[in-house]
Amino acid sequence: KSSLSDVKERTLIAIKPDGVQRRLVGQIIQRFEQRGFKLVGLKMLQASQDILSEHYCDLRTKPFYSSLLRYMSSGPLVVMVWEGHNVVQTSRTMVGSTNPAEAQAGTVRGDFSIHVSRNVIHASDSVEGAQKEIQLWFQSKDLLDWDCWDQTSTS
Ligand code: TYD
Repeated sequence: KSSLSDVKERTLIAIKPDGVQRRLVGQIIQRFEQRGFKLVGLKMLQASQDILSEHYCDLRTKPFYSSLLRYMSSGPLVVMVWEGHNVVQTSRTMVGSTNPAEAQAGTVRGDFSIHVSRNVIHASDSVEGAQKEIQLWFQSKDLLDWDCWDQTSTS
């Protein structure tokens, strides 16, 4: 059963440095808007090692961890918060498998990438993970709770 509180689900999406360099920002934002999600926060920044080590703390023992942090801090990121019904799960589907070789055509990774170490985009993998990531990357004052307004009544 759906309720109004479902509508408030939020996720963190980040376009990684390769996505920015390859001019994919507009196309990626378009996919999320077109699907029906609402953009409530957006910023561009070059991430510090500190914020990245917090963001990827669960991966710190992985062999690719240090090259992952180097890549993620190598250029600007576009970090966004998107809101809507089931946005966490639906975004993961739209983003596709971590390894682009396994990502379906029609997903961001399946359409725009070929290598796991340059996979264009990040999306939170759970509702709890999304809440943590949103708190890490954004101050609550920078998330805007705007309403759709009726364009026929301009007065
Ligand atoms: P992970 O959290 O497992 O995947 P996802 O981004 O799909 O949630 O991994 C985080 C990032 O680490 C992944 O997007 C790309 C990088 N990575 C590698 O560079 N090599 C690897 O073998 C894996 C599994 C991930």
